[in-house]
Amino acid sequence: MKFVDEVEIKNKTVLLRVDFNVSLNPNLSIADDQRIKQSLPTIKYLLKNHNKLVIIAHLSEPEKRNSDDSLIRVKNRLAEYLPDKKIVFVKDFLKNPEGLTKNNHDIVLLENIRFYPGETKNDPEFAKELSTLGDVYVNDAFGVSHREHASVVGIPKHLPSYGGLLMKKEITILDRVMKNPKKPFVAIIGGKKIRTKIKFINKLVTVADYLLLGGGLANAFLVAEGHSFDNGPIEEQDIKTAKEILSLAREEKTRFELPKDAIIANDKNGKTSEVKKIEEIEPHNQVLDIGPETEAEFGKIIDQAGTIIWNGPVGYMENPVFKRGTDFLYYSIAENEKAMSVIGGGDTLAAISKKEYLDKITHISTGGGAMLFYIENGTLPGIQALSSQ
Ligand code: 3PG
Repeated sequence: MKFVDEVEIKNKTVLLRVDFNVSLNPNLSIADDQRIKQSLPTIKYLLKNHNKLVIIAHLSEPEKRNSDDSLIRVKNRLAEYLPDKKIVFVKDFLKNPEGLTKNNHDIVLLENIRFYPGETKNDPEFAKELSTLGDVYVNDAFGVSHREHASVVGIPKHLPSYGGLLMKKEITILDRVMKNPKKPFVAIIGGKKIRTKIKFINKLVTVADYLLLGGGLANAFLVAEGHSFDNGPIEEQDIKTAKEILSLAREEKTRFELPKDAIIANDKNGKTSEVKKIEEIEPHNQVLDIGPETEAEFGKIIDQAGTIIWNGPVGYMENPVFKRGTDFLYYSIAENEKAMSVIGGGDTLAAISKKEYLDKITHISTGGGAMLFYIENGTLPGIQALSSQ
């Protein structure tokens, strides 16, 4: 697989797949534009080499064409970052390709590619149709490269295809973390459900020195360790999985740190919240964040880390009252400037209240599911498609 800076791409029309799946506010304005910003180096690099770009991106998971999921807001934000470039927005490249055929623009941004059913179905005809829009294909969409979609794995069958600079950065950093981490290697895993992260946790148990767990998924481990609190139904299967992971951690001599205390409440509005030790939690209590003793414990481990990887909030982030533990972890990671630190997942980023220390984190991965998939498998379908053409 080659990247754009390892080959000569000049005076071409480049079909560029990016991940512009930005998080939106309830009024549909852009809440976080990290993914747009992180694609700018590839966009600028290709433009500097006198190429024209046809950009393919998606937003959300629309069932059909609708205005809420239009990429028009993204087009406007992109235009703010590239004020001297002419950007054309093409609403329907199949029915009305007019904007594409004119020659007086630098960038064409296609409307949400998931408005076309052929995209998620990975329809070969649709991929072929898309491939006629460019001379060369570049995939800079690390965040969506775990999907076998037409614009990710279909187009490379038809065009010379390369990885973009963001793709290169994501792969290089994640490979360094997984294959050659500076010790101690600390993995922090939060989020709601153990089920979506089993493979991810299993992989990290074999590579990391410490695993720090919080969020809903930690509850299955606490029950597996003999605590009897009930935090909504924790299924037998999840407890069994947690037991298996704990036993693997013992074999691997990986230190597995679970919360020692928690912020609990009897409902999620936070009015009745209090700190309790895990063994004091009663069946009717809801565990909504890690407590101060856990913060102190996790903080000490993070402070000594040589490498840190973090995915998933450790509290019920929908209510800011329960973001404290997640913010604490973020500040602790940012403070350890000697460590290589990687934060991944849109949820993790969205859960952080203040973003002013993001530049102290070595890398903010644009991948949520893709980062998990890459760590579990060491590759992604979109990367394989670039390698096997
Ligand atoms: C993401 O947000 O993780 C990527 O853009 C992929 O989106 P998806 O999970 O809807 O496929």
